Amino acid sequence: MKLTMKVNGREVTGEVEGRTLLVDFLRSDLRLTGTHVGCDTSQCGACTVHVNGELVKSCTMFAAEADGAEIATIEGAAAEDGTLSAIQQAFQDHHGLQCGYCTPGMVMTAASLLKENPKPTEHEVRQYLEGNICRCTGYHNIVKAIMAASGQEMPAMAAE
Ligand code: FES
Ligand code: FES
Repeated sequence: MKLTMKVNGREVTGEVEGRTLLVDFLRSDLRLTGTHVGCDTSQCGACTVHVNGELVKSCTMFAAEADGAEIATIEGAAAEDGTLSAIQQAFQDHHGLQCGYCTPGMVMTAASLLKENPKPTEHEVRQYLEGNICRCTGYHNIVKAIMAASGQEMPAMAAE
């Protein structure tokens, strides 16, 4: 089937089979390989994107279901001139990544959290990240980066 969607502000068209997953359409057809596949059980969150402003694990959705939708992926996070978003910059500044495999999903999830809740507590950040796994287990600095992106510091005790 043919489909049309807006990805990072640009209209794209494609031809997919009914069984094609959104993550495969993004990665293979559109070559937007920043959206990762880290599991086959819908648990890791490496494939997280925004669909019509909602957080979605793109391995859990058929591309056909996103026909007509507005999609945001990690490739759209930075400005056109390459300037990182505040969240990306905070990940860099606070060493919120190690191998980086989980990072696109973490950044997309953090963006959604801060849109819903601009000043989350550390506990709220940790709860919101429940669906995202970092296999390098760098959660402490990921949380620290998200707190920093919200203009807050980690409480001193937790930061040690
Ligand atoms: S690849 Fe989608 S949740 Fe792991
Ligand atoms: S930084 Fe390696 S999986 Fe998270």
